[in-house]
Amino acid sequence: MRTQVGIVGAGPAGLMLSHLLHQRGVESVVIDTRSRENIEETIKAGILEQGTTDLMTQTGVGDRMHRNGFVHHGINLAFSGVMHRIDLHELSGGRSVTVYPQHEVLKDLIARRLADGGDVRFGIAGTTVAGLDGDRPTIRFTHDGQARALECDFVAGCDGSQTYTRFLIPEGAIRTDFFRQYPFAWFGILAEAPPSSDELIYAHSDRGFALISTRSPSVQRMYFQCDPATNPGDWSEDQIWDEIGARVGTAGAVIKTGAISQRAILQFRSFVCEPMQYGRLYLAGDAAHTVPPTGAKGLNLAVADVHVLDRALGAYYDARDTGLLESYTRTVLRRVWRAQHFSWWMTSMLHRFCDATDFDLRRQIAELEMITSSPSAAKVLAENYVGLPLT
Ligand code: DHB
Repeated sequence: MRTQVGIVGAGPAGLMLSHLLHQRGVESVVIDTRSRENIEETIKAGILEQGTTDLMTQTGVGDRMHRNGFVHHGINLAFSGVMHRIDLHELSGGRSVTVYPQHEVLKDLIARRLADGGDVRFGIAGTTVAGLDGDRPTIRFTHDGQARALECDFVAGCDGSQTYTRFLIPEGAIRTDFFRQYPFAWFGILAEAPPSSDELIYAHSDRGFALISTRSPSVQRMYFQCDPATNPGDWSEDQIWDEIGARVGTAGAVIKTGAISQRAILQFRSFVCEPMQYGRLYLAGDAAHTVPPTGAKGLNLAVADVHVLDRALGAYYDARDTGLLESYTRTVLRRVWRAQHFSWWMTSMLHRFCDATDFDLRRQIAELEMITSSPSAAKVLAENYVGLPLT
């Protein structure tokens, strides 16, 4: 088999890249070890930046998002017993975020790739990649019991945080020591309940952080800070609701409860590898970087990476111009590090660290008061939350 771009991974980065390349007439094949059902049903975050929604709209995959997603013009910060609204829309010059779950974005991209005749192969096994130093790299894998060899011009490593492709870069050619592990995690739930708030609530409390998000008028998404070793099954539904209520209730929010249909523990890590390319391999999304979930930047960064990679590959195929490919890492890392800082900042401002002293808590409150009383400080939060424009 032969294609122009072999894409390893059918997550947000891989599918969006394949979709963007198709629109400019560049062929790709996407492979993934997971089944289509698994990809379409795994619950992840649900906040799309303005640039992500714009790109989906402009490239014809935004219809369901416009129908079923919810545009949010603000968020709430709850601390010291008071709720403060940050007007994202006004502070960012008219930008906003959309609540639309990642797995719905993936459903839309998969449906569109298949409708456009795209080659997306699920449930593959035994991926190997050879020849990255030459100009005909080959991806080998097994699909439906048959061994396949896919010869490509380029390989895109979009295989997420469990990446195989990142490890194709020789040790001496990559730095992987930009890493931070946090001493806490999030306990995430999906609940059959009406919304507790019109807009998201990010709550700082003496008991730790909590986040009230939503999915639809009848399904809500909520998270609360917990020990990374927590077994979600150990908590009764009453305990979960009591804990969330204790963390946001002091600020006046009344949490509407209901049956909890899903529970998960989300680990907190920051990671970046540099560079994000080697020979004919280009990494995008979680294969190259991980952010802690606070601020929901993961999917948006993956989309921003492939937006740059698509243009760089376009310049190559249009005019054999390799300039944008050569500067790929430099271009995307600027945004990646901005998002790393933002996610770390939101995390450190809102969470209770295990060794936190009263000094640390007072400092966090002072920071939150600065954000909610100074329009200039609020603007910094708003601009980063809605996301920098895609360049
Ligand atoms: C959601 C996740 C986030 O990490 C966040 O900051 C806001 C919302 C969500 O899944 O809804």
